[in-house]
Amino acid sequence: MSQVRVLTGIKPSGTPHLGNYVGAIRPTVRASRQPQVDSFLFLADYHAMISTQDPVRLQRSTLEIAATWIACGLDPARVTFYRQSDIPEIPELTWFLTCVCGKGLLNRAHAYKAMLDKNAAAGAEPDDGVSAGLFMYPVLMAADILMFNAHQVPVGRDQVQHIEMARDMASSFNHLYGEHFTLPDAVIEESVATLPGLDGRKMSKSYDNVIPLFAPPDQLRKLIMGIVTDSKTPGEPKQTEGSALFQIYQAFATPEETAALAQAYADGIAWGDAKQLLFERIDREIAPMRATYDELTAHPEKVEAMLQAGAVKARAVATPFTARVRHAVGLRPLQAVAQPQAAKADKAALPTFKQYREKDGLFYFKLADGKGRVLLQSTGFASPKDAGQAIARLKSQGHAACTDLHGQAPVAPGASADDVETALQALRDAE
Ligand code: TRP
Repeated sequence: MSQVRVLTGIKPSGTPHLGNYVGAIRPTVRASRQPQVDSFLFLADYHAMISTQDPVRLQRSTLEIAATWIACGLDPARVTFYRQSDIPEIPELTWFLTCVCGKGLLNRAHAYKAMLDKNAAAGAEPDDGVSAGLFMYPVLMAADILMFNAHQVPVGRDQVQHIEMARDMASSFNHLYGEHFTLPDAVIEESVATLPGLDGRKMSKSYDNVIPLFAPPDQLRKLIMGIVTDSKTPGEPKQTEGSALFQIYQAFATPEETAALAQAYADGIAWGDAKQLLFERIDREIAPMRATYDELTAHPEKVEAMLQAGAVKARAVATPFTARVRHAVGLRPLQAVAQPQAAKADKAALPTFKQYREKDGLFYFKLADGKGRVLLQSTGFASPKDAGQAIARLKSQGHAACTDLHGQAPVAPGASADDVETALQALRDAE
């Protein structure tokens, strides 16, 4: 079984609140622990530059957001956790994609169009206050995704158009230069828990009703005491329906604990007591994370070291992949020019894929080099289509894309991973 590569970017801006934790951080951290998931998570600091032009704030936010994710249980040893600006290949790929991206496509981006509308309403010039960075936002985001050939990109609804644009750019590039990029799918979290804020509306910075995730305990308690309730007195039965306090409790509690609070509501618990229960329940989950967070923000060098280690892992993919893409577009050493033509002239020297069926009824394929030496021998597939898809994946992503349960890529006895990659590259060059 091959792994699903899931990639998400987090813009380092603002202070995370309980709504971010319940709606995004906690589910993403949990998902990253699934064995079939190869998770890439990064701090989109190049993106943050578009809206934040305060260097101190950008640096501080990067530290806080990185520390938050680690404190919330993201394991940098198992996921690839990095900072966008540590990967110089990203801006390079951004340029390659810029050159295959229609300007008209970017004109249609919702975020850009919203600026145009705002300016029109204010009677200003259409592009007033629009930096070229804002306009190019979707291209940079496409580079983030396509660099790592992510299969799935979990995003909020507002970002779906950006994934579609990334697919567009990937298709244009593949059409021009050969199959290099995987087309990513947006994964929209329909069932994302939205948490009510202090005033009962959705918890959001724009409503100024948030509870910061790592507020110190006394501030946390004070904010919780300020959650809106109705004016029912102690002893009067209370409704769980429409109670912000109850909903927040539910997001942290087990079903049993939630049932117990529902009973307490029916029995007329005083609002002050219910709030104290909520404070204790939240603090029980958050306190250990807060301690880690405080430790990490007090020692930025620890966070920096984790991000540097993440960058090494990310670049182990990005550097060779960029070399391949540079070659594909024609940014090549000059002496390399004659080689693909020579390969084309001598068709017999090209590696070949051979598909066949065995007595066991399954479908197999082999990759042989130009001299007929077997480099790769597949396992059995249920249908010729499955085998064909595995070949397509090999061709586009390299043999590491076809790993077995133990993360091993297929190589025939006597051949090496390098032999396989060389053969795949020869096939791409010949296309
Ligand atoms: N644009 C995303 C947001 O505002 C952040 C982001 C940048 C991102 N690059 C990405 C998300 C790549 C997913 C994949 O939330």
